[in-house]
Amino acid sequence: MLPSYLGKPSGQETGDYMALDFGGTNVRVLLVRLKGKEGYEIISQKSLPLRDPLAGYDLTSPVATAEELFDFLAVQLGSLVSPGRIYPLGHTFSFPSLQSDLNSARLITWTKEIKTHSVEGQDINQLLFEALRRQKLHHIIQPKVILNDTVATLVAASFEDPLTYVGSICGTGHNTCYLEPKFSRANSPMIINIESGNFDQLPFTPFDELLTRATAKPFEQRLEKMVSGSYIGEIVRLIVSQLIEQGLLFAASKIGSSSPWLRPYAINARSLSPILADNTPELTGVDEWLVTCGNPESSLEERKTIRSIASLVTTRSARLVAATYIGIVRHLDALAIFQHNIAIDGSLYEKLPGYAQNIALALREAGLADQVTARLYKNGSGIGAAIAAAIDSKPID
Ligand code: GLC
Repeated sequence: MLPSYLGKPSGQETGDYMALDFGGTNVRVLLVRLKGKEGYEIISQKSLPLRDPLAGYDLTSPVATAEELFDFLAVQLGSLVSPGRIYPLGHTFSFPSLQSDLNSARLITWTKEIKTHSVEGQDINQLLFEALRRQKLHHIIQPKVILNDTVATLVAASFEDPLTYVGSICGTGHNTCYLEPKFSRANSPMIINIESGNFDQLPFTPFDELLTRATAKPFEQRLEKMVSGSYIGEIVRLIVSQLIEQGLLFAASKIGSSSPWLRPYAINARSLSPILADNTPELTGVDEWLVTCGNPESSLEERKTIRSIASLVTTRSARLVAATYIGIVRHLDALAIFQHNIAIDGSLYEKLPGYAQNIALALREAGLADQVTARLYKNGSGIGAAIAAAIDSKPID
């Protein structure tokens, strides 16, 4: 339950702002023009991976330092500036951080398998400011606000649709925030980042135990490790590899040592899509996919097993996520009288066949079909940062 020091935008915000979106896989920098009721326009943007084996760098590894990481971010920001202007910056930093005000956040712990050295426990804004100073950009780029990606998604979605009270990410990681109507002694509305990926009162399977033991932070982020894109492919792989080992699936003699079933994280969430989308009687899509996994001669029974494992793991993910939404809606509105829109960003919700439908179905089963609408809201992380910067500052001169 991490306070953001932000409420919802008025929807009237205007002007040009810079945004930095740092979530773990890519870094995105943007210049955004806010036009109040007419929405927004992205003037320019750039995205770069944090690890690129071909270019020979990995800023997420334990040997990378805070200085290297934040210099990289500052250089990307610098690539968007033009001479003679001042840039107020909104920074989306998508990790559990303890804020003491709008613009200072201490990283509690890395999540999503990021391991960069000497960042945990540090003030993120300070690290960014020092990097901007090293790049001689500190007089030009002025960080105004730091926020979680769920908060940015809620801010951006409610800029357009004031009935949005919940923001969520179902992608590489998973987390949700909501607007608490009367926060603390000030009794004013504030968005709370609930870091629901760290929720752990859950019924774990032996595969969840196996998975978490082999992660960078064993026994942390338990819900995230059951539901998010970084991990669900690996859960499928762990189940299949155990069935192979027990002689219940694919003749073990036909599994070569380079088989993806034997290599940790060789099956990712994206590769589950063709399996889930295959409704052919002979499961030909699953068959084609299995050929790429080194299983050229699967039986129909084996293909059905693979499909049902992928479906069980992804359905469990969607239903657990829906359960967290139901918890929030009940907290806000126990009698379910009002309308609540949940803005969701992320590749699982957007792309995984059946995922969004499973969330909608669970909400319906909870009797909330009329009161709660879950909908895709893309790119909120970048836009929300610009809007949040606008709440507290003057636009680019
Ligand atoms: C992880 C982070 C959280 C973030 C989520 C989605 O769960 O801890 O802060 O919101 O991933 O990116």
